[in-house]
Amino acid sequence: RLQPEIAALKKRPDLLAYWQAIEQLEMLSIDYVVKAIRKMGWEFYEYVKISMDYFAEQQLGVASQYRRLLERFVEMLTEVGILKQIGARWEVIRVPEAKDIETQWQTLKNQYPVVEMELTLLKRCGDKLATILQEDEDPLPLLFSENQAINVAKLSQDALSAQVMNTLVQQVVSAAVEKGPQNRRLRILEMGAGTGGTTAYILPHLPAQQIDYVFTDCSNAFLNQAQEKFGDYPFIQYRRLNIEQPIEKQGFKTGDYDIIIAANVLHATRYLRQSVQQVQRLLRPEGLLILLENTKPLRFLDLIFGLTEGWWRFQDDDLRPHHPFISTSQWQTLLKQNGFQETGVASPEEGGILSQQAVIIAEAVKDDAPLEEVEKTSAYWLIFADKQGIGRSLQTQLQVQGDRGITVFAGESYEQRSEENYQINPERLGDFEQLLKSIGSSSLQGIVHLWSLDTPSANLITTSVLEKTAAKSCGSVLYLIQALLKTGESKQPSVWLVTQGAVATKASAPVLGLAQSPLWGLGKSIALEHPELKTILVDLEAQGSVHRAAQALFDEMGSERQDNQMAFRGESRYVARLVQQVQTETALPVTFREDATYLITGGLGKLGLLVAEWLVKQGAKHLVLVGRSAPKPITELQLNKLEEAGAQIKVIQADIAVADSVTVLLSEIQQSLPPLRGIIHAAGVLDDGVLLQQTWDRFAKVMAPKVSGAWHLHQLTQHLSLDFFVLFSTAASLLGSTGQANHAAANSFLDALAHYRHSLGLPAVTINWGPWSQQGAAREAQFKTKGLEAFNPQQGLQILDYVLTQATPQVGAIKMNWSTLPQPLAGLLTTRGIETRGIET
Ligand SMILES: NC(=O)c1ccc[n+]([C@@H]2O[C@H](COP(=O)([O-])OP(=O)(O)OC[C@H]3O[C@@H](n4cnc5c(N)ncnc54)[C@H](OP(=O)(O)O)[C@@H]3O)[C@@H](O)[C@H]2O)c1
Repeated sequence: RLQPEIAALKKRPDLLAYWQAIEQLEMLSIDYVVKAIRKMGWEFYEYVKISMDYFAEQQLGVASQYRRLLERFVEMLTEVGILKQIGARWEVIRVPEAKDIETQWQTLKNQYPVVEMELTLLKRCGDKLATILQEDEDPLPLLFSENQAINVAKLSQDALSAQVMNTLVQQVVSAAVEKGPQNRRLRILEMGAGTGGTTAYILPHLPAQQIDYVFTDCSNAFLNQAQEKFGDYPFIQYRRLNIEQPIEKQGFKTGDYDIIIAANVLHATRYLRQSVQQVQRLLRPEGLLILLENTKPLRFLDLIFGLTEGWWRFQDDDLRPHHPFISTSQWQTLLKQNGFQETGVASPEEGGILSQQAVIIAEAVKDDAPLEEVEKTSAYWLIFADKQGIGRSLQTQLQVQGDRGITVFAGESYEQRSEENYQINPERLGDFEQLLKSIGSSSLQGIVHLWSLDTPSANLITTSVLEKTAAKSCGSVLYLIQALLKTGESKQPSVWLVTQGAVATKASAPVLGLAQSPLWGLGKSIALEHPELKTILVDLEAQGSVHRAAQALFDEMGSERQDNQMAFRGESRYVARLVQQVQTETALPVTFREDATYLITGGLGKLGLLVAEWLVKQGAKHLVLVGRSAPKPITELQLNKLEEAGAQIKVIQADIAVADSVTVLLSEIQQSLPPLRGIIHAAGVLDDGVLLQQTWDRFAKVMAPKVSGAWHLHQLTQHLSLDFFVLFSTAASLLGSTGQANHAAANSFLDALAHYRHSLGLPAVTINWGPWSQQGAAREAQFKTKGLEAFNPQQGLQILDYVLTQATPQVGAIKMNWSTLPQPLAGLLTTRGIETRGIET
């Protein structure tokens, strides 16, 4: 029926020039993006690779609300062959030339007056991209100011594409009105009508006596403006409507409208499926939805509208992983799956610039049983969401299944952004308490913690990255658990602690999520100390697809399986199991070189001294023992004995957690001693206490020598040819330990580091020691309550001797009554006994 009108629109003489001009604008947009990136201090060099987190945060300093826009910029640069995507990273494959954007812009303006509005707005935003992305300028005045002759309101109404598409909407509405019932007034609702750009085209063509027209928007400011703008039309009602809220609560009735017009609005809602269902509920059976939507991304639009938060609000990542627009066919499928029976498309062009938009007409289902009310009051999940989008995808999946997911993002301050989205400061216990109060902890079914995923991969680690990651990952989990326990709820939720590439499932697997590994020790300890919270540790594949990761998690959350430690790699699911390692007899005890130096950090401590004596006994002639304090008199005596036995013992006072101290220490060895050939990292401090009594400061103190210290040793000795690099870890990181969550967390890093070094071809072994004797009766009694027995020094040193002959990166050396393992650990046992290994299921 509309064919003649569409044909007339297609004949507009300016359409061809418009198309050519938009193509130029698309290329100019790339130049603006390149210029902005350079302005933010980054240069394109061939073969340089970028990873999104590091690029956004460290290299460009882009504010978090512009993260998705930056991702879109990267996508644009990939489209034009400046970047190439390789896995989760991008490589510069062509260095873009620096262009004179000003002259280009002026030439386009002279050549194509038809796009003056588009060009003006593109320049206004394009020139400021860098300052906006770095949060030095508010973009909204650039876009919306009424004082500007050209603003987005004018663009939406008067740009040539707006003229054509709005005319098309008007023609579709007029045709529908003509076809509608003549015996009563027709009820039309326009949603998200905003500045009335489309309304202005429709109203003059409506028969006033037959129509009730409800102009709606969720902003009162737009409603007031519209009342002034359309004062000549008496049949309009102005009402506030937020399609994301229950419609009845806003005074709307189901099945009340014959026609709903939604021009350029539905894409701006968070969940398209839900919005479409809500629209269907407002319509009578067989009522019409007339939808105007962009169906393909346009770069210049992203550079203008992409500066607004609303552009990137979408959270249905399964449907829209990167961009708010979906294609015409996706719209048709979506409509058919959510309450509409017939759909049709009116598009003025095929293949031309206007084919980037479509007017889609959909008829609501016949039967008048509206779809179920979307909002549910059922149990909900709290998702501490990551920047990659796994959390958002999870939220969508929960919603599709009819459950609620509330996302919480990490930020500077506490903020409730909507009913289902919060921001809190990860380093403030009070924010967690306020959050649980606000959402009501009694209906909390489960918690998924994904904040650890926002971490640079192992090859980009620095000490400060490690510290920040620990605070955001373990620190936030500590506060979360404390806040949960303080609610006093009798039924506590399950707690899913998620990392990515933080555990090794196979020998020499690259542990790219090394910085996240401490969460595993903490998680295992929470499981033991608070079995009422069902704590589950999940390690996702590093650099895997967001959708796949969210799917694996979602499936696991809904499964009845009892495992509480697992990892996903490709299509495989691994669980942790302890398997007995058969100890083969070593032919000869290990001997150490006379012409080498061996470094023992924590060398003046209990185990450090025992190991020093043993090294000397086994032939070592040059030892460096490091601790922060000077040796006690009794220790001096022991050291004298070693010197009398012919060894050179150098005591160096240094804090291993401080990079500069380690540098000085190593250069001292290099200058005055034989080459360093082996390291035993046994430095450590304890600050035990149950989780409710812990503070982040206490955690940080325990983590410093283990995390930063081990990292410095690894970083600064990589170039040396070492025979061994032994990390003195603990059974607590392997199994968890009540009252020792910080100790377990700190040592988990050592365990992951050993695997990481193996993946780099460097020597390393982490030993998860059970207790050694000679620690005092009280401490030994404490171990006994946990089912642990202590080794005597001779047994411990024998194990060390054995481990040094093995090529395994991790060995648990624990004397324990395995039949009395507490419940959360019992699942780790196979019939065969000890040695942890990933088992594929
Ligand atoms: N003993 C056991 O039964 C047992 C069981 C499992 C695991 N472990 C692990 O084995 C290691 C040794 O245990 P241990 O019983 O011998 O402990 P220890 O007697 O407390 O000795 C640890 C030593 O580390 C030093 N140290 C701490 N922080 C340091 C830093 N930042 N820089 C340099 N040195 C630092 C301490 O000296 P300053 O304070 O003077 O710096 C201390 O002498 C520990 O890492 C522990 O986690 C021990």
